[in-house]
Amino acid sequence: KTVTHDFNVTWVMANPDGMYERKVVGINGQWPLPKIEVDKGDRLVVNMYNGLGDKSATIHWHGMFQNTTNDMDGPAMVTQCPIPPGSSFTYNFTINQSGTYWYHCHTDYCYPDGYRQALIVHDNETYFNDQYDEEFTVTLTDWYHELVEDIAPHFITYKNPTGAEPVPNSFLFNDTLNSNLPVKPGKTYLIRLINIGAFVAQYFYIEDHDFKIVEIDGVYTEPTNASTLYIATAQRYAVLVTMKNSTDKNYPIVTVADSQLLDTISPDLQLNQTNWLEYNASAPHPQADITVASCTDLDPYDDAKLVPYDRMPLLPDPDLSIDVTVYMENLDDGAGYALLNNISYTMPKVPLLYTAFSAGDLATNAEVYGDYTHATVLEHNQVVEIVLNNADTGSHPFHLHGHQFQVINRSPGYGEHFYDYADGDPVPYDSSDHAPFPDFPARRDTLVLPPQGYFVIRFVADNPGVWLFHCHIDWHLSQGLAMAFIEAPQQIQERTTIPQQAYDVCEAAGVPYKGN
Ligand code: C2O
Repeated sequence: KTVTHDFNVTWVMANPDGMYERKVVGINGQWPLPKIEVDKGDRLVVNMYNGLGDKSATIHWHGMFQNTTNDMDGPAMVTQCPIPPGSSFTYNFTINQSGTYWYHCHTDYCYPDGYRQALIVHDNETYFNDQYDEEFTVTLTDWYHELVEDIAPHFITYKNPTGAEPVPNSFLFNDTLNSNLPVKPGKTYLIRLINIGAFVAQYFYIEDHDFKIVEIDGVYTEPTNASTLYIATAQRYAVLVTMKNSTDKNYPIVTVADSQLLDTISPDLQLNQTNWLEYNASAPHPQADITVASCTDLDPYDDAKLVPYDRMPLLPDPDLSIDVTVYMENLDDGAGYALLNNISYTMPKVPLLYTAFSAGDLATNAEVYGDYTHATVLEHNQVVEIVLNNADTGSHPFHLHGHQFQVINRSPGYGEHFYDYADGDPVPYDSSDHAPFPDFPARRDTLVLPPQGYFVIRFVADNPGVWLFHCHIDWHLSQGLAMAFIEAPQQIQERTTIPQQAYDVCEAAGVPYKGN
């Protein structure tokens, strides 16, 4: 079937934390935004009109493969021109995957103003379908009182010599504070968790209720018992939780922001939030028993140990291995930059997809994609390995568009606690001396790179298109912590048609879409 939404995107007022009313990006006059639900196999059509008046926007469908529909992926200047105020663009693609996803604006300084929400793809053939009664979707996010474009200038300039990321004003659970998930005794629920935040990872824990992890980032996993999750920006988990038989009490759902990511914390910033599994609305709603003095009091399940339900084996030795290192640096002009090797990603003049489409034989030459896009050309169907080292003392949740990748290796420090990294120098990956690779590696689309550590991932370049690989901390993305994969450019030329509406958007935006 086809699921159609009309999105009239305008500013609306909202006060989600009860502390500050501000303008946020609304859809059809509403905020929180509409959750999108489809069934596997459906076509999703979203007619977006940009009624913001003062700001360009797009929509990215985070985690969607967009196989044969790369032009619908959404990142500005990668697969399309930014949609200027007063223009429309129709997203139209079929969805042949299932699980927990989200959609968000993908231009610089956009989605933290509220332009993001859950995208759920139901699948009646899921292996755990008969193991639960009902489901909830829970979004977690950091929240800022100022507009992202007003915060950003203070962040990247000389006024911020340490490069400290902006500290949020609050943390929201389903875009509010102190909410309830109404439950019935004895029933089992599927809870889908999505961190739709701009920056801060969160721990998730339910008092006296362990759960089973059954999905990460759209990949079903063998059911795995856990009591605490660590959910970085852009990551998703689905868990099965069985209720107790009595209704005399409500149980705290505890979320804790990862304070290790914050350089400064004001005394009134509430890092812990309590929401409730509500068995009985008239019973007390107690505060949590656990005292989370430091976030390392919580011991999350190591996501790299989750075995995919399909048991896809370890990909063989790579045809191409890409070695990149994260640096966060203040350069001579006083501004803070994020670099992969020595390149800080800067948007190209022409969207990368249009260059790949129109460059003929030159499309395999990385140089045509601009000087600062860090373009890397992949051959069709080759096994690609990315070794990502971190020279920075912060962690970085990296996301690859268009793929789920295998997690082959990650530096020690995960497992017991997330932040047991060496205080001294970074520990670069040593291919001659590493832990054995798993037979059935965990697979996901967003993975945390540990402070001063590394990770190694593999995927098959079986999805022709241009795909961004970037840190999903929105501050870091706009500082340039990204690179672009030009995957099978010849096949892009053969199988892609760029719709006229896409060129019309470029005309309206005054962005060239041919040549370079
Ligand atoms: Cu969630 Cu580049 O995206």
